[in-house]
Amino acid sequence: MGETFIPLADLRYAADVPRIPETALPPGGLLADRLGRPLRDLRISVTDRCNFRCSYCMPKEVFDKAYRFLPHSSLLSFEEITRAARLFVAHGVSKLRLTGGEPLLRKNLEVLIEQLAALRTPEGEALDITLTTNGSLLERKAAALRAAGLRRVTVSLDALDDSIFRRMNDVDFPVADVLRGIDAALRVGLAPIKINMVVKRGTNDHEIVPLARHVRDTYGPGVILRFIEYMDVGATNGWCMDEVLPSAEVVRRLADVFPLQPIEPNASGETAARWRYLDGGGEIGVISSVTQAFCRDCNRARLSTEGKLFLCLFASRGHDLRTLLRGAYSDEQIAAAIGLIWGEREDHYSELRGAGTAAAGSGERRVEMHYIGG
Ligand code: GTP
Ligand code: 5AD
Ligand code: SF4
Ligand code: SF4
Repeated sequence: MGETFIPLADLRYAADVPRIPETALPPGGLLADRLGRPLRDLRISVTDRCNFRCSYCMPKEVFDKAYRFLPHSSLLSFEEITRAARLFVAHGVSKLRLTGGEPLLRKNLEVLIEQLAALRTPEGEALDITLTTNGSLLERKAAALRAAGLRRVTVSLDALDDSIFRRMNDVDFPVADVLRGIDAALRVGLAPIKINMVVKRGTNDHEIVPLARHVRDTYGPGVILRFIEYMDVGATNGWCMDEVLPSAEVVRRLADVFPLQPIEPNASGETAARWRYLDGGGEIGVISSVTQAFCRDCNRARLSTEGKLFLCLFASRGHDLRTLLRGAYSDEQIAAAIGLIWGEREDHYSELRGAGTAAAGSGERRVEMHYIGG
């Protein structure tokens, strides 16, 4: 062998990686983790800040004026993000999703999108590049995002009723501004648009049917509404099962008004189970991380704002890629590190939680949603 092989235990979470074997894996090598899952989807958080304070994500009492967000020097630069993304793409990633916090708060985001849009898969194809936003700045930014190469957007929208929406974002932000953002995105051709509604029993569950009706009547099949089960992400939102409305109940309530039929997934590993309206009004999705975990095919990696690689939304720790990106490491070495990390992956938190065996990992505090981008 002759090669100094860095034990993975040292590579994991290391702030200081002495050497990585150049030959550990070719950059174009097909990766599979310990559960046989490939790497296809990279979610990149570009800021940990947000202008909303949704109680299920950034409760006001915790994320107040005294809260210390990441300093600018900790953030990966656009060049560092693009370099990392290129290495992930070499490993089989074909979908990039920009997240936050609120990604549109990151200055000059369209410059990053332009850089990412120039990347190609080993087969020479363009990537599926998208973004998850709260929609507050979308009206202003839609055209520039589209021009930079963004393909589509997903907008979070938890209620159609203005007072419920203002209460849920907890900064008194009006729903009309988000709806205008969606209109602007449609106008510039960011399609298909998806709308994500996090359902909290007793808070906004009576908005399920009105929002579905509004989306059908206003936009038709061009906009896909998805209902997300409220999840126990992070450690600050005071999650309890009583506030989860199971997706089966969401589908039942909708089907009472608009008959529905299940349809096949678009791709393996998809988060949402799809349903179509029998009258041709389009489709909806339900994301059932709590009642029907979808870890088995999970092909998603997450890169935090400060360059840590997380293998699961419910992880406590990430692998420090920033040190590699800022050190004297070649593309091959960093690609090899990514390959080693993914090869060791065995995370399947939601399945464990479903089986009643998820004791919050090692007892360490789980990463927060606004930091890892959902
Ligand atoms: P599409 O490619 O458009 O289907 O997007 P997506 O569903 O992969 O991403 P999006 O940001 O719209 O995520 C929707 C919801 O699913 C968010 O609440 C995410 O936090 C949640 N989610 C996304 N990926 C995962 C995952 O791997 N595990 C769990 N438990 N939840 C996830
Ligand atoms: N449970 C479910 N979804 C959540 N999101 C944020 N926090 C939670 C949670 N606790 C959603 C946002 C957004 C996506 C990135 O994650 O509403 O649509
Ligand atoms: Fe901001 Fe989205 Fe979190 Fe709400 S869910 S606080 S909009 S990052
Ligand atoms: Fe993937 Fe973790 Fe979500 Fe399961 S809980 S689907 S492993 S991110």
